[in-house]
Amino acid sequence: MSEDMRYLTFALGKGRLAYKTLDLLEKIGITCEEMKDKDSRKLIFVNEELKLKFFLAKASDVPTYVEYGAADFGVVGKDTILEENRKVYEVMDLGFGKCRMCVCGPASAKELLQHHAMIRVASKYPNIAKDYFYNKKHQTVDIIKLHGSVELGPIVGLSDVIVDIVETGSTLRENGLEVLEEICPLSARMIVNQVSMKMEADRIKEILQALKAQL
Ligand code: PRP
Repeated sequence: MSEDMRYLTFALGKGRLAYKTLDLLEKIGITCEEMKDKDSRKLIFVNEELKLKFFLAKASDVPTYVEYGAADFGVVGKDTILEENRKVYEVMDLGFGKCRMCVCGPASAKELLQHHAMIRVASKYPNIAKDYFYNKKHQTVDIIKLHGSVELGPIVGLSDVIVDIVETGSTLRENGLEVLEEICPLSARMIVNQVSMKMEADRIKEILQALKAQL
């Protein structure tokens, strides 16, 4: 490993995806022991031998770090990639974190969707909701941005439906809601900075190939 080799940096979305990503990287010989300590408040970790750095960020910020080149690689859900719409290359489906983006609500809201009624849609993903209703369905709706517990929307009368992630469906079931329409499948993806892809092509391709072989 040459002395002047620059560090390649990974931005990982905090939480479950980050731990699954570390497991996957470990399988291809990329380790970062100190990052696995869940109690640590440290934000950035270094593997000196491989000249790699890792940091954990809020998932919605990962595409931003990658677009600006503060990170060469990012791992984040397809939901975040679609919502943030940053200039990055999406290079690989990592196959974990599988779930679906759906329009959900009480069964009674089905009719409102069919009749293209002017409805209220609550979501943590206003851009995905807008794209789906305006560009795909050609339905004018009122989109209300929420930051979590979106299922409350139809329950307390804030909105008619929600656009949200469904994994097992248990949150919906326990709250008397159901999937009304499916927007798209989701999973963890690897993204790469567009300049890094050219400037560090060899090192990046080597990592991507090792990952592909592992998946
Ligand atoms: C996500 C999502 C749903 C739930 C879906 O919420 O927004 O609420 O998980 O999973 P399920 O189909 O397996 O029940 P998250 O836990 O991220 O928290 P939030 O509601 O605060 O966004």
